[in-house]
Amino acid sequence: MCGIFAYLNYRVSRTRKEIYETLVKGLQRLEYRGYDSAGIAVDGPNKTTTEINNNSICLIKKKGKVKALDEELYKKDSLELDTELYTHFGLAHTRWATHGEPSPVNSHPQRSDKDNEFVVIHNGIITNYKELKEYLITKGYEFESETDTEVIPKLIKYVYDNRENDSVTFSMLVERVIQQLEGAFALVFKSRHYPGEAVSTRRGSPLLIGVRSEHELPTEHIPVQYNSSHLKEGVQEKNSHNRTDCPNAINSVGDGRPVEYYFASDASAIIEHTNKVLYLEDNDIAAVRGGNLSIHRINRQAGEDPVRAIQTLQMELQQIMKGNFDAFMQKEIFEQPESVFNTMRGRICFDTNTVVLGGLKDHLKEIKRCRRLIVIGCGTSFHAAVATRQILEELTELPVMVELASDFLDRNTPVFRDDVCFFISQSGETADTLMALRYCKERGALTAGVTNTVGSSICRETDCGVHINAGPEIGVASTKAYTSQFVALIMFGLMMSEDRLSLQTRRLEIISSLKVLPELIRKVLSLDEKIKTIANELYQQRSLLVMGRGYNYATCLEGALKIKEITYMHSEGILAGELKHGPLALIDKHMPIIMVIMRDACYIKCQNALQQVSARSGRPIIICCQGDSDVTKNAYQTIELPQTVDCLQGVLSVIPLQLLSFHLAVLRGYDVDCPRNLAKSVTVE
Ligand code: M6R
Repeated sequence: MCGIFAYLNYRVSRTRKEIYETLVKGLQRLEYRGYDSAGIAVDGPNKTTTEINNNSICLIKKKGKVKALDEELYKKDSLELDTELYTHFGLAHTRWATHGEPSPVNSHPQRSDKDNEFVVIHNGIITNYKELKEYLITKGYEFESETDTEVIPKLIKYVYDNRENDSVTFSMLVERVIQQLEGAFALVFKSRHYPGEAVSTRRGSPLLIGVRSEHELPTEHIPVQYNSSHLKEGVQEKNSHNRTDCPNAINSVGDGRPVEYYFASDASAIIEHTNKVLYLEDNDIAAVRGGNLSIHRINRQAGEDPVRAIQTLQMELQQIMKGNFDAFMQKEIFEQPESVFNTMRGRICFDTNTVVLGGLKDHLKEIKRCRRLIVIGCGTSFHAAVATRQILEELTELPVMVELASDFLDRNTPVFRDDVCFFISQSGETADTLMALRYCKERGALTAGVTNTVGSSICRETDCGVHINAGPEIGVASTKAYTSQFVALIMFGLMMSEDRLSLQTRRLEIISSLKVLPELIRKVLSLDEKIKTIANELYQQRSLLVMGRGYNYATCLEGALKIKEITYMHSEGILAGELKHGPLALIDKHMPIIMVIMRDACYIKCQNALQQVSARSGRPIIICCQGDSDVTKNAYQTIELPQTVDCLQGVLSVIPLQLLSFHLAVLRGYDVDCPRNLAKSVTVE
C-alpha cells in the first residue's frame, strides 16, 4: 500500500536540505509499501531564516520511484537548500495506485486548491468518495486528480471555509472531516492556516509517531482527550491500572521544549531517528501544536484504553539495511537460520522438551476446549497455514480449517463461540485478514494473532497471540516470515499436545528436529550456486509448474507464488494427486516442471506422479532428499536437501524455490524487492 512519512521539527534548527533528506530517507525506508509515484509538501521558500513561512506550501511530486523524486528536488534551485528552519512540518508519501494511474497529479500530497491551503497524505481507500466528490462539486470545489484521496483536502477546506469562528483548531477540522469518511485511512494533514502544526489520524490503516527530544519525555503514557459532550457514562476500563484516566487532561509530550516528531506507516522509517514511538488507535486524532503532542477522540467506547503508551522499539537500524546483499529479499532468504532460531528462542526448552508461547499460555485451557481451529490468512501467510494444517490436526486432535481471508468473508462462513480463530499475517495489517478477525470476534470466537509486527492492528485486536520475531521483512515477496510462521504454528501444536501421552514420541521427534533446523537451513542455503545454474537454464521460459503433495503441497503453492510474484512467469502449484484430473495435459518435453518428492508418507504416490510425468516426456527438476537415487535417476536436474521430520521438511523444501525465484527475477532484469503492481502490506480489501 502507500507509505506515509512526515517530519516536524519544533525549535530545532534544520536546513531545508536536511529536511528534504529526512523526508526522502523516510520514503526510501517505506518504498516497499508502494513505488509508483512519490511526493512531498514543505513550506515554500522565503527570505526569513527563523520564522515559519505561513504564506505558501510547496508540493513536489514525481511519477516513479523515490529516487526520481529525490533527483527532482535538487533540480529546483529555488528551494534555498541552506536556509535554516527553526520550526517546520513536512509531508512525504510513496504511492501504490488504487484510483487513477501513477502520475504527478494523482500522487500525494493531495491538495485543497491551487493555493495549497490544506494538503494531505493518505494510506487506504475512501469508499464513499464519489458521493463526497459530487457534493463538493455542487459547492464549487474543483477536482484535478482521479484519486479517492482528493475529497479529503477539499472537504477540510470546505469545513474551514464554513467555520463558525476563528477559534476552530486544526484538529477540530480534521475531526469533522473524518466523521464524513467511510473506508480505511491513515492521514496526515498540513495547512498554511496552521503553520508548524500537524494533525494525523487513522481508521483501519497503520500509523505511528516517533518522538525525539533532548529532554526526557515527561510521561510514558499520553492521556487521550475525549470530547466530553460525547463521553459515555459508566465506562468500564480495561488494563487501566497504573495509568491515569484523565479524559479531559491536557497531555502531553513536548511542553514547549525543542522536540521532533516523525509520523510513519511503519517503524522502519522512524527507527534511525528515535526508538520512542506511539501507535495510534483507530479514530485517534493526534495533533502537534506549539510543539505539544495531544491525542483526541470523539467517543469513548466501553473498555477503551484512555492512554496511549510511548513504547520503546527493539528494532535495530541494521535490521532494515541491505548489508552486502543485492536485494532485501535475498538478505531475508539468507537470514532464515537466525530468524527461525529467533522464533524459537526462549520458547522451546530443549532440555525438558517443553514449549511455552507466552502470548497463548493463559488461553490454553480455553483453546483445548474449542470445537475447531480456523486458521486464516492471505497469500504466503495462508500457505503457512496450509503447510501446518496436517500436523496441527495430529497434535491438537481438533478439526483444523484453513481459510483464505477474502473467501472466508465472501462465504459468510459460520463461526461459533466455541471456535478458536488464528490470524496469520506478517504485517498484521492486511485488510482482508483484519476484516475476518473482526467478523470472528463479533461472533464470539476466541481470536489469536500470529504476526511479525509488534503493535500492528491484528496484534492489538486479537485476544492473544504469538510474535514470530523474524525481524523486519522489507522485500515484498515474503520469505523469512513464511518459515517463522510455519515454526510458530508447529510450536503451538507442540504446546497443545504436551499432556498427551500417546503423542510424546512424535513430539520429541519434532522438538529434536527443531533444534537442528537452523543448521539444516544453512545447508540448504549452501545450494545457492547450483540453484543459480538451474535459473540460468530456465529464465527464458514462460511457465513453470511446481508439483508435490502431502506436507509439501504448501511448498508448491508458496514456490509458485514466489515465482509469479517477482519473475512474472506463469507458475502454478499443483497437488500431485490432482495430476491425472487435468494438469497432466500440460506435460510435454517443453514444459518446465519442478517436483518436490521427499521421503514421507506420500513418497510412493509422488513417485507414481513422477512416472506419469516421465511417461509424457516431461523433464522434471526434482527437489528430494540427499542421495535418493530412486528418484534422482528419473530427474532432468536434482536439488538434494537434508532430510528432517516430515512435518518440518517444508521449511527446507521451500528455500530452493525462494532462491530460484530470486535468481530468475534477477536474470529477467526485474526489481526483486519491488515487483510491479504489488505492495508489501495490502491494507485495502
Ligand atoms: O502481511 P501479510 O502476511 O498479511 O500479507 C499477506 C499477503 O499479502 C502476502 O503474504 C503476500 O502474498 C506476499 N507478498 C507473498 O510473497
